[in-house]
Amino acid sequence: MAIKPGHHEYDYSSWEDEKIYEKAYKASLKNPSEFWNKYVDDISWKRKPQTSYSNKWLDGGVSNVCYNCVDRHALSTPDKPAIIWHGDEYGERREISYEALRKMVQKIAAILKSYGVKKGDVVGIYLPMIPEAIASMLACARIGAIHLVVFAGFSSEALKYRLTKSNAKAIITVNSFKRGGKRIDLQQNIICNINIINLDDVTISDNMNTDIEWQNSDDDLFVLYTSGSSGKPKGVLHSALPYMLYVATTFKIIFGIRIDDVYFCTSDIGWITGHSYITYAPLFHGLTTVIFSGSPTYPNADRYWQIIEQEKVSIFYTAPTAIRSLQMFNKKFVKKHDLSSLRVLGSVGEPINKSAWKWYFETVGNKRCPIMDTWWQTETGGIILAPLRNLNQNPGLAGKPFFGVEIDIIDGELVIKNKFPGLCKSIISDNSYTSNAFYNTGDGAVYEGSDIKIKGRMDDVINISGHRLGTAEFECAINKIDEVKEVAVVAVPDELKGQTAFAYIVPIVSNIDPEILVKKIINSTRATIGSIAKPDYIAIVPDLPKTRSGKIVRKLLRDIANGIETPSELHSVVNPEVIEDVKSSVNNPIFCPDMCKLP
Ligand code: WTA
Repeated sequence: MAIKPGHHEYDYSSWEDEKIYEKAYKASLKNPSEFWNKYVDDISWKRKPQTSYSNKWLDGGVSNVCYNCVDRHALSTPDKPAIIWHGDEYGERREISYEALRKMVQKIAAILKSYGVKKGDVVGIYLPMIPEAIASMLACARIGAIHLVVFAGFSSEALKYRLTKSNAKAIITVNSFKRGGKRIDLQQNIICNINIINLDDVTISDNMNTDIEWQNSDDDLFVLYTSGSSGKPKGVLHSALPYMLYVATTFKIIFGIRIDDVYFCTSDIGWITGHSYITYAPLFHGLTTVIFSGSPTYPNADRYWQIIEQEKVSIFYTAPTAIRSLQMFNKKFVKKHDLSSLRVLGSVGEPINKSAWKWYFETVGNKRCPIMDTWWQTETGGIILAPLRNLNQNPGLAGKPFFGVEIDIIDGELVIKNKFPGLCKSIISDNSYTSNAFYNTGDGAVYEGSDIKIKGRMDDVINISGHRLGTAEFECAINKIDEVKEVAVVAVPDELKGQTAFAYIVPIVSNIDPEILVKKIINSTRATIGSIAKPDYIAIVPDLPKTRSGKIVRKLLRDIANGIETPSELHSVVNPEVIEDVKSSVNNPIFCPDMCKLP
């Protein structure tokens, strides 16, 4: 590494020591492209860019994401396991070496080509957590197609919306799969006119070759839908090469990876975590990535711990909701397994409360493993904030910004003030972003000492068990019901899921049977969005508080549902007579627990 006279050599590889971090972080902000230049060499290039940034990231560079995640390791470590899969029942296990993964990817790429899929085409992926799901993503990357993964828990309508909106050319799926002892049908959910590639019944010869489509810095890797404040999910588009640089570098430094790490992340490829930190970052570095398609509590609540013991997992990355749900079970489920292989623990997707943090640290990590509470978003592609990797962490603080990323808190909102390679293209091409280079994250945050604490979303996004859903999406689904005149959905805290949805309903007729209404609401959210989206509380009210211009006063409704004594925005209500009715229905809402039996 060339060191300019007068400059110190900063140790970017240490994400452990506060003093070293502070110095290195400052240096990285002074000259971000110099920081990124050091990691450009981790990528195998067909043509190396002259510098990491000039007008755009990796300008002039030519490479391929699949080549970096598969082919180069199939050459150097062909027999090393790339993916270890665990299925629904104990003992269901598959090991896919890098060479086997290369063959699998080649096959799927060849099938895609036989359907006429070309560079730049969008390909849907609607699969459970099986090795073929990861191979399908990589197969798209290999031929320059853009993958669109849809979480297998989304309904047929949600799937259709995403496929048609993004003009997908084909979809890869299977007939069905098993989770938690139950069979779940998938293929029957595809209700639009599209080429269906069903991995259950394709028979292809073993040695199919597909050439690598070399990608340049403008080429795209995937589109993934997530929720914002509007009624419809938004497609977030990520580039191939700059995104790969960002996820690979954050993973390497923040988790402090070693080449013999066995890494287990419990997310699903249907979410951004499954893209960045199950698929791309671990395979880029040639690690072994463990995946699990079952339920953490089936047949017993020790599935994660059993897998960690059996595979000698060294880095384990999960979500606070999973931790809280496992915390409710007897400690013996954890303690009967030898978890001494663990070195680093991670948390993602929602704020982690102190009690869950403590249980994770003490019971799972045996007070030996730092907890990387990583904050980031679908839009940022990879981790933005993480605590330093040491044993002096403060529970519940997402810590420090990653090198080269300048952040600030403006009016209580976390903003990113400079350019970094992970940011999605949809935001980069937004005029308001290019003019001042600020990205408003939508999350409230405060400094606690030199660390950042995330307070949660400031917009109309609800984070249920780490799943991002818009209140407006719920409202659109509920508005479809004939008996519903008006609806407003707000977020309320939930001990297990972090947050849950609370729906205020104004029925067309006052004497409606609440039981029938509730069933219709649950059926409609399930059909429109998926089984993960269901309001837990429903309050039937005669009317909703409105402003002079007829807008529903949501903030007031949120405050009332959250039991706030002096709710805000009362002054803007033109029909204050409804407030008492709203308050009394909130005191006695209809509770629809998850196990709610439906006809
Ligand atoms: C929330 C998930 C607190 C946050 C990777 C963000 C978090 C949204 C954390 C993005 C964390 C994610 N602490 N909140 N460590 N990580 N969030 O796009 O509100 O599915 O805006 O990406 O999750 O959700 P998304």
